[in-house]
Amino acid sequence: MRVGVLTGGGDCPGLNAVMRGVVRKAENTYGDEIIGFRDGWKGVINNETVELSIASMRGTLTRGGTVLGTSRVHPWMQEDGVEKIAATVADQNLDAMIVIGGEGTLSCARRLHDEGVINVIGIPKTIDNDISATDMTFGFMTAVEVAADAVDRLHSTAESHDRVMVLEVMGRHVGHIAMWAGLAGGATVTLVPEEPFDIAEVAESIKRRHEKGRFASIVVVAEGALPKPGTLDVVEPEVDIYGHQRLGGIGATVAAEIEKLTGFETRVTVLGYVQRGGTPSAFDRVLCTWYGVAAIDAVHQGDFGRMVSFQNAGMTTVSLDDAVGGLKTIDPQLWDVAKTFFG
Ligand code: F6P
Repeated sequence: MRVGVLTGGGDCPGLNAVMRGVVRKAENTYGDEIIGFRDGWKGVINNETVELSIASMRGTLTRGGTVLGTSRVHPWMQEDGVEKIAATVADQNLDAMIVIGGEGTLSCARRLHDEGVINVIGIPKTIDNDISATDMTFGFMTAVEVAADAVDRLHSTAESHDRVMVLEVMGRHVGHIAMWAGLAGGATVTLVPEEPFDIAEVAESIKRRHEKGRFASIVVVAEGALPKPGTLDVVEPEVDIYGHQRLGGIGATVAAEIEKLTGFETRVTVLGYVQRGGTPSAFDRVLCTWYGVAAIDAVHQGDFGRMVSFQNAGMTTVSLDDAVGGLKTIDPQLWDVAKTFFG
């Protein structure tokens, strides 16, 4: 078979490990040819390919980023985008395409599949872990490790100065990274998009903690966290050319307000792209390899219009409709555990 591969959306630790898994099984077991496309859907629209083989993927298991490059370009934002994709599929004689991406990239894959343009298999990528119908996306655990390490480091400086430290982490619609890092690092309070917060309550719990003699506090806030309506003014985020809100800044707002309401010295750290860059954790390397192998197996089983999914510690597939039909929010049971440790 001739199978295309692309990586779309924001980069994520483990993209190369996934592709290494695909090509290893594809070449050795099935005798397939794998064709990489540059910069997500843009490369398919423009028929720009990159060599993707066992040889070219050698040494990439631990490498961050993506050897293919990535972008948020999609077929419906370009004139004749879908027709150009159909032309590339014909020109490259593709039997299928493995699409590695988050909600935006996989939604395009579903539409192209539904319109009969190409047979697709999706692989769920995002550090935010917000894709439905899988227990875990790859890259998430690496981001949690980075964020938890940051919480640990902030603890020691917070204790030395008797300060409140606010850590802003990624998570545009959901608070998985914030909740896991907060739990792993013993945060005083964690703020997530799923549960609008009252800054006065946050300040009160920090004050109570200080009254008990605990002068250092860590507040972990997801970039998409929002205050309860009317409780705190926040800056409206800009929207980029892809309709993607540019988040970031809630940490600074929260820190300033905590300092105002408590009188305690407060500092903010925005973790940003270090959560997305660099080498995947050992867990993610295994998960990525498994996803890659499962995806090429799914191609050979003709399981098209579906996404490989990690469920109950095993691999299966789910429909792309289920995968992109809604966001996976934080687990309420684990959130209850997290809240037990607030204050
Ligand atoms: O979707 C993953 C993510 O890392 C979000 O958490 C973050 O808001 C976004 O990507 C940032 O993307 P960009 O690369 O467009 O700045």
